[in-house]
Amino acid sequence: MLSPLNMAHYWLKEIIEPDDIVIDATMGNGFDTIFLAQLTKKVYSFDVQEAAIVSTQEKLVENKLEAQLILDGHENVDKYVDKNVKAAIFNLGYLPKSDKSIITKAPTTLAALRKILAMMKKGSRLAIMVYYGHVGGSEEKTSVENFVENLEQKEYQVMKYGAMNQKNTPPFLIMIEKLK
Ligand SMILES: C[S@@+](CC[C@H](N)C(=O)[O-])C[C@H]1O[C@@H](n2cnc3c(N)ncnc32)[C@H](O)[C@@H]1O
Repeated sequence: MLSPLNMAHYWLKEIIEPDDIVIDATMGNGFDTIFLAQLTKKVYSFDVQEAAIVSTQEKLVENKLEAQLILDGHENVDKYVDKNVKAAIFNLGYLPKSDKSIITKAPTTLAALRKILAMMKKGSRLAIMVYYGHVGGSEEKTSVENFVENLEQKEYQVMKYGAMNQKNTPPFLIMIEKLK
């Protein structure tokens, strides 16, 4: 079976076409940016850490791919992209092997989700990988779950995918599709 992250990629790949505008809201080490850049040239990637930009830029060069890397919070997404977003991905939490105090937080995550959903067109998809084992993670998880549970069902399909029998706090996927 696919892991939640691989499932996120599978569901995004199904709909992304070569000229689509897509967003990696949490660039980190760039694995999602590379995945998206293989599918379209119009990738906007956000992170608040310079280290994320450096690491992702190296991977893009190695792989001969393109993406616009933005050193800014995803809550400011509307300064860089204004419409026609086809897909987006969030990986919540902290950057592995890095400063664990720099984490995504509910107020900025929800601000970014609201803005990106408003820019998405019919048939677009947004993936949220929820990692919540760290300090502050369960508050963000609860806020994000409350937010997506209250999305209007005529406008959005919201699915959840994750392990049921793993110990500790296994990450899970929330996938949103815009219906109109
Ligand atoms: C779990 S990591 C992302 C992993 C990444 N997708 C990868 O492939 O390596 C979460 C990232 O979100 C970043 N982050 C935290 N707050 C942010 C914000 N407001 N806007 C954008 N990125 C943020 C962190 O710096 C961290 O790199």
